[in-house]
Amino acid sequence: MRIAFFDSGLGGLTVLSAAMRELPQEDFLFFADTLHVPYGTKAKEDVKSYIHDAMKTIMQEEVKAIVIACNTATSMAISELRRTYPIPIIGMEPAVKPAVEINRSSGKRILVFATPLTLRESKYRDLVRRVDSMHIVDSLPLPELVEYCEALNFDQKIMNAYFTEKLDGFDLNEYGTVVLGCTHYPFYKKILSDLLPEHIQIIDGSTGTVNRLIQVLRANDLLSSSGTQDVRLLNSSQSMEYAEKMEKALSIYREIENRQQGYPE
Ligand code: SIN
Repeated sequence: MRIAFFDSGLGGLTVLSAAMRELPQEDFLFFADTLHVPYGTKAKEDVKSYIHDAMKTIMQEEVKAIVIACNTATSMAISELRRTYPIPIIGMEPAVKPAVEINRSSGKRILVFATPLTLRESKYRDLVRRVDSMHIVDSLPLPELVEYCEALNFDQKIMNAYFTEKLDGFDLNEYGTVVLGCTHYPFYKKILSDLLPEHIQIIDGSTGTVNRLIQVLRANDLLSSSGTQDVRLLNSSQSMEYAEKMEKALSIYREIENRQQGYPE
C-alpha cells in the first residue's frame, strides 16, 4: 500500500521529497488538483469541495495514509477529513512554533509567508495566538509565488525583483526567521537565502510533517520493512504534460536539496 500526498499543484512535492529521503522503503502516490490550482486565492467553500473531490479520487487507490501536503487545504479541511476517512491523515502547519523558540532569546521578529486563505483561517490565527506570547509574528501573503512555481519560474532576476517589492517596508534587521507557510514556497529557499540578510533563518514545515508521518505509521504498524521506492504522480486534469512537469519539478527540488546550490537549467 502506498502513502498518498495531496496538494493543489506542485508545492506538495517539497514534502514528498523529504518523505522520500526519510522513507526509502515506502511507495508513494502524489495527487495534484491541477483542475483547481491555486487554492489560496479562491473562496473557502469552493476549495473545500475541491478537497473532498480529490480525497474521493485518492481513496479509490490502495493507500495506507494521506499527507495533506498543502497548508491551505490543511487549514480548510483537516478536521473534517479526519472525521470522514478511516485512515491516518497528516496535515501541514506553518512552522511558527519552532520559529518562536528560535527567536525567544534574541527577541527578533518572525515573518510568515503563506497564501491569503491560510492567513485568514482561524487555524492559523489560533496557532499564532497560542504560541506568540511575545507578539513577534508578522505575516505576508504571497499568492503570486504559487503561480511562479506552477510555471516553474525560478529566474533569479524576476524573483529578486518580486521579493524586493513584497518586502519593501519591512526592516529586515528586526527579523530573525522567515517561515515558509505554503508548500510551494520552499522551491524559492535558495533564491531567498541569497537575497535576505545572512542572519535570517528560513524554515518550513516539511520536516515536522514527515516526522509526524513516521510516528503515525509506526504507531499504526504501517511502516514497510522492505521494498524499493516507487512514486506515482497523478493530477486531476489527467494531463500527460502536467505529469511531466511534476517529474521535472520533483527532480529540480531534489537537486536543490541535494546540492544546496543553484537552480538547474
Ligand atoms: C495554493 O494552491 O494556493 C497553495 C497551496 C498551499 O497553501 O500550499
